[in-house]
Amino acid sequence: MLQDLVRKNRSCRRFFQDAHIDVETLRQLVDLGRLSASGRNRQPLKYILSNEAPRNELIFPHLGWAAELPDWNGPEEGERPSAYVVILGDREIHPSSGCDECIAAQSILLGATERGWAGCMIRSIARNDLRSALGIPERYDIRLVLALGKPKESVVIDPLGSDGDTRYWRDENDVHHVPKRSLNEVILEQW
Ligand SMILES: Cc1cc2nc3c(=O)[nH]c(=O)nc-3n(C[C@H](O)[C@H](O)[C@H](O)COP(=O)(O)O)c2cc1C
Repeated sequence: MLQDLVRKNRSCRRFFQDAHIDVETLRQLVDLGRLSASGRNRQPLKYILSNEAPRNELIFPHLGWAAELPDWNGPEEGERPSAYVVILGDREIHPSSGCDECIAAQSILLGATERGWAGCMIRSIARNDLRSALGIPERYDIRLVLALGKPKESVVIDPLGSDGDTRYWRDENDVHHVPKRSLNEVILEQW
């Protein structure tokens, strides 16, 4: 059920780093992005796939993790993603990719979740450094990085507390909590 899949598809930031995702799986996931909606159907997105340690190590240092957990510096060695999909916007197709990358990213993450993997959209990127590390030509705008792997953390959805605090947090058992607004709060009008 899509309802279950969307609920299960939580941002995950700690992984079993040794769990290898093969390139065919990554290609199948990117195919879900390829088939997703695109403003005026221009399809400016291009993708770089990475699933081997040496290349993954070129990507990891340039990503920002969990801004709401300031005491945590991101996943430690052994808990890092085993694969990445770098989503690029091809400026020769269109100067801006609008919100295409987020739609494609969600499709890819849903597909990953369905297959038992997990991931996280990362927009906090040291773009110039990542561009240099991977040798990405200026023609391509770095839009988003998807970190993927076998999930090592438990994530639960909580109702938003009465204080309205939307910050995610981790409890004493290292369970990651994500407060979500209620359906009644987000529906402003219904006829
Ligand atoms: C466009 C976008 C950019 C994001 N960028 C980052 C990021 O740079 N680093 C990070 O750790 N999480 C990032 N996230 C993940 C959000 O923090 C996450 O979606 C939020 O905490 C809610 O958790 P959930 O995805 O499990 O619902 C991003 C999410 C979106 C939609």
